[in-house]
Amino acid sequence: MHGHAAAGSWLRPAASAHHEAAGQLLHIRSATTSDTTPVEELHARCSPRSLYQRYLAPIPRLSARTLQQLLDPCSTSTLLAQNPQGDTVAMATLARSTGDDEAHLAVLVEDTWQHRGLGTALTGRLVHQARTQGLRALHADVLAGNRPMLNILRANGAVAHTIEYGTTSLTLRLTP
Ligand SMILES: CC(C)(COP(=O)(O)OP(=O)(O)OC[C@H]1O[C@@H](n2cnc3c(N)ncnc32)[C@H](O)[C@@H]1OP(=O)(O)O)[C@@H](O)C(=O)NCCC(=O)NCCS
Repeated sequence: MHGHAAAGSWLRPAASAHHEAAGQLLHIRSATTSDTTPVEELHARCSPRSLYQRYLAPIPRLSARTLQQLLDPCSTSTLLAQNPQGDTVAMATLARSTGDDEAHLAVLVEDTWQHRGLGTALTGRLVHQARTQGLRALHADVLAGNRPMLNILRANGAVAHTIEYGTTSLTLRLTP
């Protein structure tokens, strides 16, 4: 892999961007360790169903450990999408998996913001970030009935390889 960020950091943060959805201009930027409150608030506004789809387990509350992992620059790179009021309405995370150059990808869009193109936009940005920073593959575990996420991943070239206990595992190869 090439293009490491500052010492101790796994990937370089992604460039900030704007994205229009539902007539609002959202600000997309890389999260930092200071973003605990927006991430907690986003999770608090999401339905149990969305949280289950994201974590593949019932999570009544975001644990301190998961929160810390989501924002740890040594092992993750997270994008946040914020509306003009400053609320974080979606996030998407690359989490380093075995070795330095493969990652797990996962997305969480607040329920009222789903089906407005945000999941597609954030996934596309993470795939671009991963590719330009030399990662070799991305993996995702998705509930078999989660059509929107399966469609988004397939549109980016991911291929399903395992279906176990109702979960589809996909891999997106980034190198030829
Ligand atoms: C799955 C998830 C990330 C998808 O994000 P999203 O923002 O709803 O996805 P998009 O809006 O980009 O795409 C979803 C659908 O809406 C459609 N869409 C996109 N923009 C749209 C718009 N402006 N108006 C109407 N539909 C739109 C897309 O074409 C897509 O349709 P398809 O499923 O038939 O292909 C989101 O629903 C979510 O967070 N769910 C809960 C957590 C989860 O499942 N995470 C995935 C685990 S890795």
